Parts: sequence; C-alpha cells; structure tokens
Amino acid sequence: LLPARADGPLKVGIIGGTGLENSEFMVAREQVAVETPYGAPSDTFTLGTINDVEVVVLARHGRDHRHNPTNVNFRANLWAFKSLGVSIILASNASGSLREHLAPGTFVVPSSFIDWTQQRQRTFYDGAAGHPTGVAHIPCFPAYSEALRSILLECAKTVGVEVHDGTILCIEGPRFSSRAESNMFRTLGADVINMTACPEAYLAKELGIAYAAVALVTDYDCWRVGELEHVSVENVAKVMVQNAVNTTKLFALAVSEIKAKSELLTTEVELAETVAKGSVMF
Ligand code: ADE
Repeated sequence: LLPARADGPLKVGIIGGTGLENSEFMVAREQVAVETPYGAPSDTFTLGTINDVEVVVLARHGRDHRHNPTNVNFRANLWAFKSLGVSIILASNASGSLREHLAPGTFVVPSSFIDWTQQRQRTFYDGAAGHPTGVAHIPCFPAYSEALRSILLECAKTVGVEVHDGTILCIEGPRFSSRAESNMFRTLGADVINMTACPEAYLAKELGIAYAAVALVTDYDCWRVGELEHVSVENVAKVMVQNAVNTTKLFALAVSEIKAKSELLTTEVELAETVAKGSVMF
C-alpha cells in the first residue's frame, strides 16, 4: 500500500542536487532517518521551515556526496518523502547546456525530459514482495507539474536570474558525454543535460506527488567548438557556488508562493493523486 497523504497544510519537499548538499537555507528543527520498502534514502531528512512553511529537505547525493547518480536510491528517497507527509517536491539538478542561449548561470525549468538512463529502477510496482501490486503505466505528458513550473519560472525572474523553459536529457553517467554524444543529444531536441532528472520525475508521479525541477546550468558540456572550458568537475563546482545562492533565494520565494496559492496547489496535488491511482492496472 502506498503511504497516504497527511492531513493538514501542504508540506513541501526539497531535493538538493550537486552544490546544494547543505540545508543552511532553512530553519532546521530535526534530522529524521527513514526506512522504506526500497531500502535507505540518500541521507537523513532535515525537517524545518522556510518563511514559516513546513519543509522537508534531502541532499540527493547525500550531504557528503557519497552516492553517484546511478546509486542514488530514487525510490527510497521519494517513498520516504511521501511517508513524511510531503505532497509537493521542488528539485534542483546541476546541468550542462546544449544551447548557445543557455549560458552557465542560467536556470531552466524543464517542461519535458528525455530519459537516457539504462541502469535504474523505474517503477515502485516491480512485482517484488512488500511492494505495491499491479503494473503502473504512468503518463509523462505533462512531464512536470505545470502549476509548480509557473511558480518556479515566476520566482526565478523575481530573483533576477535568467530563466527558460526547455527539455532536459538525463544520462546514466557518472562520466560526462563525448562530443559525438553531446551533438546527438542536441539533434534529439534536448536543451540541458544532467544525470539525475530521471527516474526521479516520473517516480514522483507514481506516488501522486506534484513535482517540478530547476536545472542549474554550470557548463556548455563539450559540443561547443572554440569553447575553452569544456565540462569538468572543477568548472561545475565553480559555477555551482553562485547557482546555489540563487537557488536558495528561488526556493524560499517559491515555498512562500506555494503557501499563498495553497488552494490551487491542493487541486494540483489531487490531480497528481488521481493520475497515479488511475495508472495502475491489476
Ligand atoms: N551536470 C553538470 N554538467 C553536466 C553535463 N555537462 N553533463 C551531465 N551532467 C552534468
């Protein structure tokens, strides 16, 4: 059985990607360890508030960045959020740019994804004992919560960062792409590239969680001819310092907006729950 939604005000979950491992941007109250039928989440969850709104924060790779993208237990992370009463999630993903107009420092709020991962658990409904029964065929259009996307786009503009719509492509990693791959991903129609957008976005759907993400551009990957700084850990880390400052501001504003629009968001969560329920075949 899936964990039920908690009564009371909407609780917002935040998944911090690379560069957002610490939760200093919130008023932390306690650390909670959660066990799930899918094993252990990436780390303990920090419970607390941002602008007086209840939030639950998780570092996707663990606070010490110990989980590589393939080893992130996405199912455990999302299941744990749900069992902590979270029905809305905002996520961040450090990403490479596949487009000239998306320079490092730009934010993209993806409206769709291309899943190029190969080795990840893609469903909670895997037929294993102790897991929910049935087969889930979750629709991926729209790929993200449009209500949350609007809030992220609007709040990013208020923060003063350049923000765009786009398609995010998720590779398996942990290596970066070759130039041939990078060019292929461009021809496929992807705008940004990262290693953790999937399966997180659609696993959230199976749990009826309203979910949206912000891709924080750190680099131009390696497709750009004449570019001196192709993607490397050093370049990603350098740009993430400023991106993290802006994301912290963005999430604080977005959480307040979610509270201000709680009626709209409750409807959005109910929609997500209806889609999740209706997608399971027995
Ligand atoms: N994360 C940050 N930059 C990236 C890139 N160029 N490719 C994949 N993941 C990334």
